[in-house]
Amino acid sequence: MISLGIESTAHTIGIGIIDENGGILADERDMMKTKEGSGFIPRELFEHHQKIAVDLLKKAIDKAEITIRDVDVISFSQGMGIPNALRVGASLARYLAIKYKKPLVGVNHGVAHIEIGRLLTKTKDPVVVYISGGNTQIITYVDGRYRILGETEDIPLGNALDELARFLNYPMPGGPKIEELAKKGKYVDFPYVVKGSNVSFSGLVTHAKRLIKKGFKVEDVCFSFQETAFAMLVEVTERVLAHTEKNEVLVVGGVARNKRLQEMFRIMCKERGARFEIVPFKYAGDNGVMIAWTGLLSYKHGIITKMDESKILQKWRIDEVEVPWMKSRSIHLR
Ligand code: ATP
Ligand code: FE2
Repeated sequence: MISLGIESTAHTIGIGIIDENGGILADERDMMKTKEGSGFIPRELFEHHQKIAVDLLKKAIDKAEITIRDVDVISFSQGMGIPNALRVGASLARYLAIKYKKPLVGVNHGVAHIEIGRLLTKTKDPVVVYISGGNTQIITYVDGRYRILGETEDIPLGNALDELARFLNYPMPGGPKIEELAKKGKYVDFPYVVKGSNVSFSGLVTHAKRLIKKGFKVEDVCFSFQETAFAMLVEVTERVLAHTEKNEVLVVGGVARNKRLQEMFRIMCKERGARFEIVPFKYAGDNGVMIAWTGLLSYKHGIITKMDESKILQKWRIDEVEVPWMKSRSIHLR
């Protein structure tokens, strides 16, 4: 069985092709770049994705050495995301499904980040830390669905890092630049904001900007921002691990690429005797393969998206999605 997946929730348009054994046959993607210091304009995202989608599709099909007729299921990221971006992938998916008479599966982008992580790290039932530009959630499987047991109360971590980088006039995505600057920094005082299993980052951004305006060294601000934000996440993850009695931690999403973050999680997991895994670098960011794989899992468990149910779902949360392939593992919250 072969699944073709289309990702287009935000800056990246991607086409991935995967087989039933998790063999990645193709992974084509293109990320829209922005000018230094500016964010994305939704209309420009639409134009960028629109212009490049069919080209990527052709390349992916060539790379996989198949024809579109060999594809068994057309998967696409249905949400959550930026409507203008989502529409490009959804339209292409509908067109392919109709023209080639293939089943269509709308995939939840967040679930796809988790599933590609589980596939590539061979984790079974992890506590997932999903940290990207658009999301910061501590998630784990409970009773039929992935449940969000902790999350940011305001902005996502990647977004916070990007905002700080933008303030410093660095191009997007800003996370890698902050990571680089942080390597040369030392600690200055930062607010630490954890409420139960939730975190909050906007106060950290405000504080960082204030320190920079006051003339603090940029490297010190970046270092301390990272140390504080990552420590907050490690703390809530440890709490969720304790409550659910699970023994694996899997970090997914673009921010998972940060080496210092990985190190802090690794230390915590070692102390608790939990296995620690990070989604491989290449599949940390948005890609079509993760959509293809999750579409394939869904299809194999009887999930098909009817044409009239294929409209984009801008705010589709992970905990609204049934994940029958996880059903065999039931756990109880303490
Ligand atoms: P989602 O739609 O799932 O929220 P996304 O659109 O934000 O995803 P991703 O590619 O998953 O896309 O994540 C991008 C984020 O990852 C950006 O905010 C970027 O700054 C951040 N990032 C990338 N590399 C690093 C790094 N080395 N350290 C910290 N953050 C990073
Ligand atoms: Fe993403």
